[in-house]
Amino acid sequence: LVTGTAFGVLTGKRVVITAGPTREPIDPVRYISNHSSGKMGYALAAAARAAGAEVILVSGPVSLVAPAGVEVRGAVTAQDMLEEAGRAVDEGCDLFIATAAVADYRPDTCAGDKIKKSNENMSLSLVRNPDTLATIAARGDAPFTVGFAAETRDVEHYALDKLTRKKLNMIVANDVSAPGIGFNSDNNAVTVFWPQGREAIGPGPKAVLAQRLIALIADQLTEKAG
Ligand code: CTP
Ligand code: CA
Repeated sequence: LVTGTAFGVLTGKRVVITAGPTREPIDPVRYISNHSSGKMGYALAAAARAAGAEVILVSGPVSLVAPAGVEVRGAVTAQDMLEEAGRAVDEGCDLFIATAAVADYRPDTCAGDKIKKSNENMSLSLVRNPDTLATIAARGDAPFTVGFAAETRDVEHYALDKLTRKKLNMIVANDVSAPGIGFNSDNNAVTVFWPQGREAIGPGPKAVLAQRLIALIADQLTEKAG
């Protein structure tokens, strides 16, 4: 693993990063969520800050400490995530990185009272959630956008599909089927794709990967700017 030093490469840049899972309420005591720990997003926020950026981290519920010098804004549901990220980008943003594991669906209604069990089976009706990353990337004033793709198979195919379909500048593909890697782990291995190239990074600690990712993203950002 080559660790590129990212010192100063984002000086003066405004960066917004989403991280963690979302929670979609079923009733006052239950929700739908996933295994995202938020570690990759928090590591990227720390690395972007270390590289000189002003960083806003829009974070789902996680048990991590805010990196020094990073402003953390909480979001619980996918709809919160869309609103908070949109607001942060409105304030001025050069680089948007979406690492959050946003729930694709939410229960169509949240029961006002705790749902009581019966002897029948039960089903939930789910509706599609808005896509924060695609929404930001489609803006007229879109920042340089970087997405993540968590896949369990055909990683390259699905990652490239998301790169084009969501009109991203770069995508970081994550094979979450590999043991000890990705979701909830301290380690990760990724392949980054952009229209003119690709680079494999890791396996290694998320903090080290984050530094290399920030260096690589900053390279492409600079190249695109001019
Ligand atoms: N994403 C988002 N908002 C959503 C869903 C996804 O911002 N509602 C972002 C994620 O943060 C990630 C990228 O989109 O950067 C890809 O997420 P992923 O779940 O891999 O892709 P989806 O487009 O949701 O497709 P699928 O889950 O069907 O593979
Ligand atoms: Ca998804």
